[in-house]
Amino acid sequence: MSKIFGVYQGSFLPLEEIRVSPLSRAYTFSDSVYEVIPYFYGRPFCLIEHLERLSKSLEATKIYVDLNRVEDEINQLSHYIKNHENAYIYYQVTRGVDSIRSHQANHDELVPELFGYAVEIKTNTSPIQAKLCEDIRWMRCDVKSTSLLGNILMMNDAQESDCSEIIFYKDDFLCEGGASNVFLSVNGAILTPSLQSNILSGITRNFLIKSLTSKDIIVQETDCNISLLEEASTIWFTSSTRGILPIENLVNSNYHRDPKDPVFNQCKEIYEESFKNYFAT
Ligand code: PDD
Repeated sequence: MSKIFGVYQGSFLPLEEIRVSPLSRAYTFSDSVYEVIPYFYGRPFCLIEHLERLSKSLEATKIYVDLNRVEDEINQLSHYIKNHENAYIYYQVTRGVDSIRSHQANHDELVPELFGYAVEIKTNTSPIQAKLCEDIRWMRCDVKSTSLLGNILMMNDAQESDCSEIIFYKDDFLCEGGASNVFLSVNGAILTPSLQSNILSGITRNFLIKSLTSKDIIVQETDCNISLLEEASTIWFTSSTRGILPIENLVNSNYHRDPKDPVFNQCKEIYEESFKNYFAT
């Protein structure tokens, strides 16, 4: 594998040469927010939307950084991507490094830590196996924070059942995936859980909804009861690193995928066309 390059506090280095203090608040408290920006053939997909979401996460967590610097570093990192078919930039902003661990941040001494890297990835488009899990996370999952213990515990648990993703539900209603958003086709309709504080406003989710709406196809952003899972012809995930990914099997449910589901097939076609047009301009 070729060297992965990163940036930490303005220095661009191979990832393995970057050194971070154990008193970084990212390390002790997960006191940090992040973005994952996908690149295709060396060009970013929805960069502005990712920067806007980062700005909202920073606002929500009251971490103050110069967003022009962030954008500049992301652009510099993108030069390491070359023209690889598929890659992403991970970019994280941490509140800073404490002189000694302290829950209450000493704002006078803290300097935000800016860290990122660019890496090539391979994307799987084959339907996957997933698991339904209770949402045990904090109540601000609309903030793209690195505090992901709830996601990690459930995703590790699902891995033991050969599942590579999960669907979170709370009080009988679907929320989102462990690292993606969720859509369902049910009796000809397209549904996705409406955005609330326990759901991330996914950039891929929003791109898909916009693409479908531009073709007069309605997506119902609504409360999705878990009983819909057994009525669904297709359930699929959306995310920056996986695009649109259908679920073959949802292990602890009565979901049966219809591989010929015309609704899902049309959604996928429209998404792919919009995606192509995005890079054609
Ligand atoms: N995750 N919900 C969660 C909890 C996520 O972690 C992600 C993305 C999404 C989809 O958002 P988007 O379409 O903007 O990628 C929804 C990224 C890929 C990650 O953490 O690696």
